[in-house]
Amino acid sequence: MRFAFFGDVVGRSGRLAVTRHVPRLREDLSLDAVIVNAENAAGGFGLTRATAAELFDCGVDVLTLGNHSFDNPQGITVIDDDQRILRPCNYPAGQVPGRGAGLYDIGGYQILVINVLGRVFMDALDDPFVAVERELANAPLGDVADAVIVDMHAEATSEKNAMGVICDGRASLVVGTHQHIPTADTRILPGGTAYQTDAGMCGDYDSVIGMDKEEPVHRFKTRMRQGRFSPASGEGTLCGIYVETNSKGLAVRVEPIRIGGQLAQSRPKAQP
Ligand SMILES: [Fe+2]
Ligand SMILES: [Fe+2]
Repeated sequence: MRFAFFGDVVGRSGRLAVTRHVPRLREDLSLDAVIVNAENAAGGFGLTRATAAELFDCGVDVLTLGNHSFDNPQGITVIDDDQRILRPCNYPAGQVPGRGAGLYDIGGYQILVINVLGRVFMDALDDPFVAVERELANAPLGDVADAVIVDMHAEATSEKNAMGVICDGRASLVVGTHQHIPTADTRILPGGTAYQTDAGMCGDYDSVIGMDKEEPVHRFKTRMRQGRFSPASGEGTLCGIYVETNSKGLAVRVEPIRIGGQLAQSRPKAQP
């Protein structure tokens, strides 16, 4: 099967990059599934029912989140109601709305998606490695699941790299999110898991990780607040990763996707 994963959608520019390019890409690459991290979709912080609907309506199947999951109060009910939205699976069990993993029937394929939050340089939740082991055991790849996609939302490259190693051979893709800058380590690990330390963001790269440059630069230079962070509004780049798997759910091809906006472009060629 063939699927794509896109990193953190930041504000309107990010949503426009998704709605503008995903429908065509889905057709051109014969994508069976599209997964998108939407933790910054609503004004840069969290998501709302309307922003989630915008992404689903253009052909996204599952939305993952991260440390900004609950930033927008309007998003809390939709996270709880809509099975297609995942927040990290290592929030304290039974005390937080929503779910952290889901087994989805998408186009006849059983696809397990897991969202998990790292602990290095972040607010610490439960152990992400224990949480992912639990979710993998619920729907093993090649047995219950045709594909397993792990979105490791974390600050430290080492922690994401370790998650890739630990899941190698048991997931189709382990991809990092949260840094908003794509890494150049796209590869298939020895056991057959596609991996990239960070997917990059869908948003305007003429910014500081998606935000208008002025406020973050001011804070770095002065350690003082001048105003609020607001998403940059120039043309966004659709930024993520394309994966093809074999009958066992392991990766046989992986390529970065970068379309539109300021980043150097990368568009996988369609295969017969
Ligand atoms: Fe983010
Ligand atoms: Fe984040």
